Amino acid sequence: MAMTKRLYIETVGCQMNVLDSEMVVADLKKRGYELARDLDAADVILFNTCSVREQAENKTYSALGRLRSFKKQHPEKIIGVMGCMAQKDQQLVFSRAPYVDLVVGPGQLARIPDLLDDVARGKGPQMAVSLGRKDGPIADIKRSHETFDPLRDPTMRPTPFQAYLRIQIGCDKFCTYCIVPMTRGPEQGRSPEQILAEARVLADQGCKEITLIGQTVNSYKHTNGGKTTRLSDLLYALHEIDGLQRLKFVTNYPKDMTDDLLQAVRDLPKCSPYLHVPVQSGSNEILARMKRGYTVEEYRETLSRIRGTIPAAAVTSDFIVGFCGETEEDFQKTYDLVGESRFKNSFIFKYSERPGTKGAELYADDVPFEVKNRRNNELLELQNRISEQGNQAFLGARVEVLVEGASDRAKRRDEDQGEIVQLVGRTPCDRIVVFDGNPRLIGQLLPVAVYDVAAHTLFAAVVTEHILSVGQARAPVG
Ligand code: 5AD
Ligand code: SF4
Repeated sequence: MAMTKRLYIETVGCQMNVLDSEMVVADLKKRGYELARDLDAADVILFNTCSVREQAENKTYSALGRLRSFKKQHPEKIIGVMGCMAQKDQQLVFSRAPYVDLVVGPGQLARIPDLLDDVARGKGPQMAVSLGRKDGPIADIKRSHETFDPLRDPTMRPTPFQAYLRIQIGCDKFCTYCIVPMTRGPEQGRSPEQILAEARVLADQGCKEITLIGQTVNSYKHTNGGKTTRLSDLLYALHEIDGLQRLKFVTNYPKDMTDDLLQAVRDLPKCSPYLHVPVQSGSNEILARMKRGYTVEEYRETLSRIRGTIPAAAVTSDFIVGFCGETEEDFQKTYDLVGESRFKNSFIFKYSERPGTKGAELYADDVPFEVKNRRNNELLELQNRISEQGNQAFLGARVEVLVEGASDRAKRRDEDQGEIVQLVGRTPCDRIVVFDGNPRLIGQLLPVAVYDVAAHTLFAAVVTEHILSVGQARAPVG
């Protein structure tokens, strides 16, 4: 009998990485691994890494640096680097941290168990990466970027009643600032049969909310025998699955926000009216240099079509400030776009040059760090004001929340307050709600009445019959 091995895994980055880690853990558990709480208790230490901004990579290399002496003291422990930075840096990971045993790109994760065995058997450092975007025929490149999703393990998710479901891998948009098309390879839609089978497994496991994920999720397409399935078709099919109560999808590409999709979200009660549609900049010059494929005017048209079809839609965006050549006038246009667009919230990033992208090749990263910082803060401050104003509309409203768990504060208060703790949930439009309640409510969908709001939080009370009968609560607004 082989001895149980213990795995410690640290994950940074996007939902794709969270899901990848879930899959790797599920795979290793099948081979007898157990999870370890910390480095000391682990036989295998894995870092699931991100390359989207330099800062994320620096953090990973610092974490690896701290393991240098640890590995000297414990040479038997295996250290692995997986994810986008592994794919991007490949041998460089070994040069910067020669005590790393394993480097595995996001398209090769299924090989991790065998490669760990090889390392344990003394075969030396192992690497498995996918082909680059110009390294051969497209079919070979695609094949080298695999996904191995159906290994669902509810114990590995942050909550068993919520799950990510990958419908697409890779990206073909090639925005000039972005490393993702290089690290995750060509866009490939998974087959509807696979997606639906996986959703049924999730529903059988008690999952109530599924978030479909893809880099450009609304560009999803799968053709088989002359029949093409779009995201809207998938939503109709998923809607039929008993037990599933909420469907979300991220991230959308503005140009592919088609009417059939918006109508599906409008017409299917399980679809959340929450749409993440990153615009990135409010200046046409910058959008062109980013190669985003649309103008500000076209984005505005998309936004008004979204709101015309789904009046309650909560739209969110990403912005990059300080992209190459961004002038004060360009930034002012972005600022004005945030002012008029009424996003529920926005994620704002300072441009970080990524070697291997067209942006790094073609343009100078010429906006000083202080300027990027100031623009970042100004935009954030404006967006926060708008977010709070948007939340004001919920004062006195009744909203439905999926209760996700106890808040951090609650965990401390729990001891003296017995069974009533501060809980955290989310509305269908992805707003965070905190309220007092019994921990037994975790995992349930229930109505709450909002009595106060901040920029990123609604404060609410569980709706009781009494509150309902005196009519203090309005109809749910999303
Ligand atoms: N620098 C800064 N932000 C970036 N993003 C992607 N690439 C970069 C980069 N090189 C941002 C985009 C994207 C989000 C996930 O990360 O806004 O939508
Ligand atoms: Fe990157 Fe653009 Fe693809 Fe998004 S759409 S992953 S920003 S290349």
